[in-house]
Amino acid sequence: MGVFALIPAAGMGKRMGASINKQYLLLDGMPILAHTLSVFEKAPFVDGIFVVIPEDEIAFCREQVVEHYGFTKVRRIVAGGKERQQSVLNGLRAMEGTPDDDVVLIHDGVRPFVTADILSRAAAMAAESDGALVAVPAKDTVKMVSDGVITATPPRETLWLAQTPQAFRYGVIRAAHEVADAERFLGTDDAMLVERLGRQVRVVLGDYRNIKITTPEDMILAGAFLKETR
Ligand code: CTP
Ligand code: MG
Repeated sequence: MGVFALIPAAGMGKRMGASINKQYLLLDGMPILAHTLSVFEKAPFVDGIFVVIPEDEIAFCREQVVEHYGFTKVRRIVAGGKERQQSVLNGLRAMEGTPDDDVVLIHDGVRPFVTADILSRAAAMAAESDGALVAVPAKDTVKMVSDGVITATPPRETLWLAQTPQAFRYGVIRAAHEVADAERFLGTDDAMLVERLGRQVRVVLGDYRNIKITTPEDMILAGAFLKETR
């Protein structure tokens, strides 16, 4: 069974408010995206990596990240779309020819603290089910709010916060994305597209450190996590 990574990295990083796309901000002297790719490069069970990048950044990414850091597993760098879902779909289409039972680990380019252990548990679960979503239990109580008024308080024990990777067999996730695209359905994560087809996606325990670098304070946290592992 093959295991492939699909890394959506075609966003604009608006909430970070930096002058460059957030995935090129440096952590310990290395771009965030390179930290993320290196986890997949080093994991022996990962056979290849597909990266999705804004069209006008493809050459920069190839030279400054893939070639500069010598990532040998990167098979293709594909142009992204307007929404993350479209970027992932472009990546899945670029993987045409991948056997249906091979596993795809879809992982945000801006989650550099994922570990090989998380990847391997997600891949194993995806191989034997309709899909695996890495998540952590919610620590805070979550409220549903409408017009400033609380409408529901879902029991905390039932709430998990979705991270990535979200892992699936290629045939399952390609079909789910193609159906969503045909129906013009836009979801907020990949698992949702599989769930809405009535399939069962399993949860795999992630790590509170596996943050998505989104806003400036996340860079402070990232610096602290790096120090801890040095
Ligand atoms: N992403 C993508 N294509 C898009 C939008 C997002 O590949 N059209 C990727 C981002 O590059 C990131 C991941 O999806 O690796 C998670 O998205 P997010 O954290 O929202 O990143 P951005 O969209 O870049 O940030 P923002 O929403 O603040 O602009
Ligand atoms: Mg975004």
